[in-house]
Amino acid sequence: MRQLLFFSNNKNKIIEIKKIFDKFNLELLSLNDLKISEEPEESGQTFEENAKIKSDYGFNKTGIPCFADDSGICIESLNWKPGVLSKRFLNSFKSNEACFESIIKSVKMKSKQNAYFKTSISLTVKDNQSVIFNGKIDGKISEQAKGRFGFGYDPIFISKNYNKTLAELPTKEKNEISHRSIAVTKLINFLSN
Ligand code: IMP
Repeated sequence: MRQLLFFSNNKNKIIEIKKIFDKFNLELLSLNDLKISEEPEESGQTFEENAKIKSDYGFNKTGIPCFADDSGICIESLNWKPGVLSKRFLNSFKSNEACFESIIKSVKMKSKQNAYFKTSISLTVKDNQSVIFNGKIDGKISEQAKGRFGFGYDPIFISKNYNKTLAELPTKEKNEISHRSIAVTKLINFLSN
């Protein structure tokens, strides 16, 4: 069975990605499986750049074809930020709830509800040879945080044509529509060809 390394230590993402990869004849490894704890600095200005920094690093360290994702939320009322700084933005508040309240307040003040999640996946198969796959999901910020599934900003994001937040959708249902699953499906199509 062919091996593929997913360069991530994020348990929730690994669960989501492993579920998507279940039906493929590939051994999907994570950093934890290889006892790798160091990660490169995510110094890119875009999701694509950060994903490539990580997949190149993983390939160079292990020699195993490696993919990495970089994702985040872009919010209209915050001038389409925090983007690549999504994790740092969330962690800069005393709790996720405090962050959600601040975002919801900015949406109300500016009357701008739009938002999107984006994932960029970079796959490195040879030295410095990588391919990028993008996934995006459009939606809006909810009027209040809701739901117990998922992670990160899921409790305040409602996908277009839905009336529930991503955190109200079980993993399987989120996987059917998420930015990450769109990018992963493109990656899988590439690997299958
Ligand atoms: P990362 O750099 O790809 O790990 O993602 C950065 C941050 O974006 C995460 O820590 C989350 O806060 C947020 N994020 C990324 N993907 C999702 C998602 O599917 N749902 C909710 N938040 C997400």
